[in-house]
Amino acid sequence: PGFPALLKNSLAKVGTPSEILDFLFKWMEVSEDYPKVPEAKGSIRAVQSEAFFIPLYELYLTYGGIFRLTFGPKSFLIVSDPSIAKHVLRDNSKAYSKGILAEILEFVMGKGLIPADGELWRVRRRAIVPALHQKYVAAMISLFGQATDRLCKKLDAAASDGEDVEMESLFSHLTLDIIGKAVFNYDFDSLTNNAGIVEAVYTVLREAENRSVAPIPFWEIPIWKDISPQQRKVNEALKLINSTLDDLIAICKRMVEEEELQFHEEYMNEKDPSILHFLLASGDDVSSKQLRDDLMTLLIAGHETSAAVLTWAFYLLSKEPSVMSKLQNEVDSVLGDRFPTIEDMKKLKYTTRVINEALRLYPQPPVLIRRSLENDVLGGYPIKRGEDIFISVWNLHRCPKHWEDADKFNPERWPLDGPNPNETNQNFSYLPFGGGPRKCVGDMFASFENVVAVAMLVQRFNFQMALGAPPVSDLFFYLFIYFLLADSSKVRIG
Ligand code: HEM
Repeated sequence: PGFPALLKNSLAKVGTPSEILDFLFKWMEVSEDYPKVPEAKGSIRAVQSEAFFIPLYELYLTYGGIFRLTFGPKSFLIVSDPSIAKHVLRDNSKAYSKGILAEILEFVMGKGLIPADGELWRVRRRAIVPALHQKYVAAMISLFGQATDRLCKKLDAAASDGEDVEMESLFSHLTLDIIGKAVFNYDFDSLTNNAGIVEAVYTVLREAENRSVAPIPFWEIPIWKDISPQQRKVNEALKLINSTLDDLIAICKRMVEEEELQFHEEYMNEKDPSILHFLLASGDDVSSKQLRDDLMTLLIAGHETSAAVLTWAFYLLSKEPSVMSKLQNEVDSVLGDRFPTIEDMKKLKYTTRVINEALRLYPQPPVLIRRSLENDVLGGYPIKRGEDIFISVWNLHRCPKHWEDADKFNPERWPLDGPNPNETNQNFSYLPFGGGPRKCVGDMFASFENVVAVAMLVQRFNFQMALGAPPVSDLFFYLFIYFLLADSSKVRIG
């Protein structure tokens, strides 16, 4: 950037209000010959026709690591370059907020950890991260095992009847059961029952998905809000979830009061190891609304993400029998027929690679969303405050220059004796859990949950696509903003 831009950036850094800066520097920006981000003009239909991150991949090959996508008055910056991603997510993360994501998820997550920004986010992150300490995650391994065993029993029945099963919703129930226990010690038992609360959770999730793909924010229209049957249903569901959470908080508070509490870093109540229990025992001083927002955020963040990873992992495995048999060999030799333990997590190396690779090909979410809070320079292009930015993890993970045979499911691409791939050792070309200060707090939790589930399922069953199952690409079912809800459709067990 030229001198004026540098001057403006420096003034911004010392706290000059951006309104004043914009006014002062307006004339310069017009006259200055600064490079402009390449622009892809399009019709919204082009990206609405299928999961929107797939056409974004084609545009990336044409326009490069940063380009502007314009639809009439609206525009987005699409980032697919690892060093720009590193700058936005890590090196200059203070200059970015969650933008659209926070707006759309407000109705369900409020000011929970995912949408929260600034000081509130800092305070809540500091309170919540310690709850996921090593001893807690280790204790979760047996929960993962028990829940997966329940799923295995269900599959046993289907297998002996020779029935096809739709794995996506079973994985969704599995991860809902796990996250309910793990976050607030509640057994949804969704694998066996479909009671009101389970339905309420799904109503809210589907609504988040609908809102994120809606061309206009219909839920903000005053009268519509009150008369639309769907909106009324959503409000009822939210009410039920909130009152259930309030009850769980009250129960947990009583437990904490009755306990002879000695709080320390790795504090855990053996009877109720949940995150909620840790937070209350730590004396986390927070309004009940904030606590509910955080619990709801953890519930959603930890539920559909893991379910989608498992669905895609089994879809990929069903297409690569050689990977499947190598995986089964590892599981047989490490586990035999017992349940996994924390010690096994280190030994199930190939199982871990299978998950790493499923996360590369089908990252959850496929894009990370930010909004610039101040002017900045990305990839040599000056950008303004208020830009909506999509970091396409999908593009980073499939970049043909970076990955050999990028579209191939190849767990061998990371040697078993090497480190687990993560954003740091892959230099922001691989971001399954994001990076920088807003990185996923549940990465270890989720990795072990997935390893346990995959190991226990392949230990007992073989999986293949059901005859007549529609091809996956036709079924692409996605949530624009946060989750990719995969559909590997029917997987037949035999
Ligand atoms: C954030 C992925 C499981 C809790 C994130 C982010 C990603 C991610 C990519 C960063 C979002 C961004 O930068 O905009 C995943 C995947 C999971 C998973 C792929 C499963 C395979 C979980 C679980 C939990 C969790 C199990 C809770 C126990 C969170 C929270 C944040 C987050 C609270 C927000 C952190 C912050 O903003 O400070 N996750 N996640 N996630 N995740 Fe996960």
